[in-house]
Amino acid sequence: MTTETLYPVPAEWAARAKIDSAGYTRRTELAATDPDMFWRDEAQRLDWIAPFTRVKNTSFNESDFGIKWFEDGTLNVSANCIDRHAARNPAAIAILWEGDDPAESRAISYGELLEEVCRFANVLKGQGIAKGDRVTIYLPMIPEAAVAMLACARIGAIHSVVFGGFSPDSLASRIEDCDSKLVITADEGCRGGKRVTLKGNVDAALRHVHCAGVTSVIVVRRTGGAIAMQPDRDIWYHDAIAEAAVDCPPEPMNAEDPLFILYTSGSTGKPKGVLHTSGGYLLWAAMTHDYIFDYRPGEVFWCAADIGWVTGHTYIVYGALANGATTLMFEGIPNYPDFSRFWDIVDKHQVNIFYAAPTALRALMREGDTPVTRTSRASLRLLGSVGEPINPDAWEWYHRVVGERRCPIVDTWWQTETGGAMISPLPGATALKPGSASTPLFGVLPEIVDADGVVLDGAASGNLVIADSWPGQMRTIWNDHARFFQTYFTTYPGKYFTGDGCRRDPDGYYWITGRVDDVINVSGHRMGTAEVESALVAHGKVAEAAVVGMPHDIKGQGIYAFVTLNAHEVGDAALRAELVRWVRTEIGPIATPDAIQFAPALPKTRSGKIMRRILRKIAEGDFSSFGDTSTLADPGVVDVLVAGRADAV
Ligand code: PRX
Repeated sequence: MTTETLYPVPAEWAARAKIDSAGYTRRTELAATDPDMFWRDEAQRLDWIAPFTRVKNTSFNESDFGIKWFEDGTLNVSANCIDRHAARNPAAIAILWEGDDPAESRAISYGELLEEVCRFANVLKGQGIAKGDRVTIYLPMIPEAAVAMLACARIGAIHSVVFGGFSPDSLASRIEDCDSKLVITADEGCRGGKRVTLKGNVDAALRHVHCAGVTSVIVVRRTGGAIAMQPDRDIWYHDAIAEAAVDCPPEPMNAEDPLFILYTSGSTGKPKGVLHTSGGYLLWAAMTHDYIFDYRPGEVFWCAADIGWVTGHTYIVYGALANGATTLMFEGIPNYPDFSRFWDIVDKHQVNIFYAAPTALRALMREGDTPVTRTSRASLRLLGSVGEPINPDAWEWYHRVVGERRCPIVDTWWQTETGGAMISPLPGATALKPGSASTPLFGVLPEIVDADGVVLDGAASGNLVIADSWPGQMRTIWNDHARFFQTYFTTYPGKYFTGDGCRRDPDGYYWITGRVDDVINVSGHRMGTAEVESALVAHGKVAEAAVVGMPHDIKGQGIYAFVTLNAHEVGDAALRAELVRWVRTEIGPIATPDAIQFAPALPKTRSGKIMRRILRKIAEGDFSSFGDTSTLADPGVVDVLVAGRADAV
C-alpha cells in the first residue's frame, strides 16, 4: 500500500511532451529487447566523423571485464556542442552568464563561443598541450570555464576541473594524481560580494614538489585583484587569446578516448579520478537532458550547480550545449544580494527550466514565501532536483510556491560515476511522488539486492545495483583500473554497486535512502569520512578521529567528528575552533565540521575496529537503540560518549 501523494501528469504535458507514458513504455521495451537498435538510433543525435559499427561491448565480470560503447566510431565533443549549432544559427545564445553582482551579465552566441573556443584551443596547443595531455581547470563560474573545457575537448586534451572551494592541498593532490601539464585559473572569484582566492591557491599548490609537471598557468582576469605572476610560467588568458588564430579544426576522437577526469570521494583513501570518455558520455548527457528536461529550441535552461561537480559538467555544459540549448551560468549564491536572487534571475533571463539541489531549496524555504512570491516566475515550466534525497516538505514547497503547482518536478538520481541521470521522472510520462526519483530511464537496469546479493523482486528495500552497462558509465579510475573493478564490481559480482540504499514501492518507484558506505552527502556534495579523518589526524594534537554524518536541516547531512587528543592536550572551545579552521585549510570550506566531540576513547571491537554504527547514533542524538554492544572491548566508552555529546553540538 502506498500512502504517498501522487501528482498525475498535467494534461497539457501529456498532450505535448516529447515522451508520454506510451512512449516511455515503448522505448523501455525496445531498449530491453533490442538494445543495439535502440542505441544505434539514439546515437544519431550526435554528429559522428566516422560512424561506429559496433554498439556495445561490455562485461561486468572479472574474466572479461571491460566497458566500451560505439568503440570504432569517431567524433569530437566540442564540434557536437558548438560547430553544428553555430553553422545553423550563429546568433543563437549558447551561454547566458549572470554575475555575482546583479548588474553584470553576458550573452555569448554559438558563433562567438566557437571563435573563443578555437582561439583558446590554439593557445593550449601553443603551450605544448596535445591529445591525451591532462589540463587542470580551477576557475569560478565564468564563461571561460566552459570555454576551457570545450577547448580541451576540441584538441583531445583531458580536463580535470577542480571545484574552486578546494584548498591548495586538495588542488595539489588532484594535479599530481593525473600529472597535469597546465592549470587554468583566475585571479580571484566573486561569491556573495566577497572575493575568493584562486591564483594564490594555485601558486601554493604548485609549490608542492609533486606538481613539477605543470609548465604553464593561464590566468583569467576576473576581479583585477593583486596577484603575483611568475614570468616564465604564468600567462594572461586575454593576452594569449587575442594573439591566437581563430581557426582550429576539431581533433577526431575515438568514442572511447577520454574526455575528462573528475575527482570524487569514496569510502576509503584519497579521492578517485572518475574517467569519462567521449562518445557514450556525450550521448548520455544529450539524451537525458533532452528527455528529462523536455528541452525545446529557444528555451533558457538553468542548472544552478557549480561546474566543479558532475552536475555542472553534464547539464550546464555538455548535455545542454550538445542539444543547442541556451544554458544559464550563475556565478553567485542564492542569498546575495538577497533571498530572491534565484527568482530574480529567472525573471531577468526568462528561465524556462530550473534545476537545483535540495539543500539550496531548504535554505530558501526557511526564509518564507515572500522572497519567492514577490517575483513573477511566469516563464518557468519545469523544475528539477539533484544531488541528495529531497524531503517531501521541501518538494511540496518547491512545487506549490516556486512552481505555483504548474511545473512538474524531475527528481533525478545519479552519480559522478553514472555520467548523467539514471532514475528520474519524465515530465510528460511519470506521475510524481514527492521524495521519489521514480523510475529508471530507458536502458537502465536497477536492481535491489540484499546483503548477500540476492535480487529482491517487487516492493523491497536493500542496496541499489545496476545490472548492466549504459553508455554514460565511467570507464575507469584514472591510473587505477584495479581499484575501479574492486570498488564497484566486487561487492555484488557481475553488477555495478552504487553505494546507495534504496526502497522500491509496490508501484515500482525507487526511493533512494542515502549512502550505505562511509560517504556522506553534505549540501549535495560528496565527502569521504576517511578524508576528513585524515585531515584531523594530521593535526599535531590529534591522536585519532572518527567522522560520521549527522542529520542537518539545511545541508541534509552535517559532519560530526569524534576526536581523541594526544595525552596532556586539553579539548576546549579554542582547540575545537582551531580544528575546524584546520580542516577548512586542509580540504576546503565544504569539509567544515559541524560538530567536534572530544572523546577520551572510541568504541572499538576487540579486534580494534571502530563501531561506526554507534557513533552515527550518538551523532543523531538517538541513544535508544545502540544494538548489540557486547563485542566492544570496553562497552563503558559508549556512556562516556553519550554524556559528552552535549558539548559538541
Ligand atoms: O547518494 C546519492 C546522492 O548523491 C550521490 C552521488 O553524488 P555525486 O557523485 O556527487 O553526484 C551528485 C550529482 C549527481 C548518490 O550516490 N544523490 C544524487 N542524486 C540524488 C541522490 N540521492 C537521492 N536523490 C537524488 N535525486
